[in-house]
Amino acid sequence: MPQLTVPVVNVCRSYLRAIEEYQREGGYPDFDDLDVGEPKAFADYVARLRDDPRRKVEPWMAPMTLLWWVEGAEYLGRVSIWHWLAGPLAEAGHIGYDVRPSARGRGLATPMLAAALPHATRLGIDPALVTPRVTNVASRRVIENNGGQLVEEREGRLYFHLPTAGGS
Ligand SMILES: CC(C)(COP(=O)(O)OP(=O)(O)OC[C@H]1O[C@@H](n2cnc3c(N)ncnc32)[C@H](O)[C@@H]1OP(=O)(O)O)[C@@H](O)C(=O)NCCC(=O)NCCS
Repeated sequence: MPQLTVPVVNVCRSYLRAIEEYQREGGYPDFDDLDVGEPKAFADYVARLRDDPRRKVEPWMAPMTLLWWVEGAEYLGRVSIWHWLAGPLAEAGHIGYDVRPSARGRGLATPMLAAALPHATRLGIDPALVTPRVTNVASRRVIENNGGQLVEEREGRLYFHLPTAGGS
């Protein structure tokens, strides 16, 4: 069973392949032009992700906790938990996640999100707002599998309240 962990260096080889997958798929600005192939560069990158979870990219941004879904030395996906909703996060929600492209369709996302819920509870988030696009059927299933309740549909997004405490 994979585990959610803070970013770790031992998945380096797998993560570098995942970066290529994300870059091929497109739509992941944080992987654009990311060059961390050298061991030192990767260690520095992981340290940045770990030691500065409250990355303030924009002044309005809330702190964010980043967790990787890892099995042994294999990187499988990631979850971001925004500590509160500020600015555009009111639409984007508290929790974002993805499974690396080559690992999709294997049922990994539901347990990954489940494993993130206690982290959200500890941050005082309950329920979490999660807002997939209407067209994102897989993400909707993942949220429903975790007990999410649809509260609104607006401008192409579904607004789910996801209980975090005592969740699966
Ligand atoms: C959404 C995402 C995380 C799902 O990850 P995954 O590991 O492939 O999902 P799973 O294999 O666990 O499938 C979850 C459910 O969606 C269904 N599903 C998966 N792909 C599907 C598709 N293309 N169309 C319809 N249903 C789909 C599965 O059958 C499963 O349903 P079930 O639980 O009722 O059996 C993944 O597609 C992804 O990373 N997408 C890009 C980023 C993203 O959209 N993140 C979410 C933002 S809110």
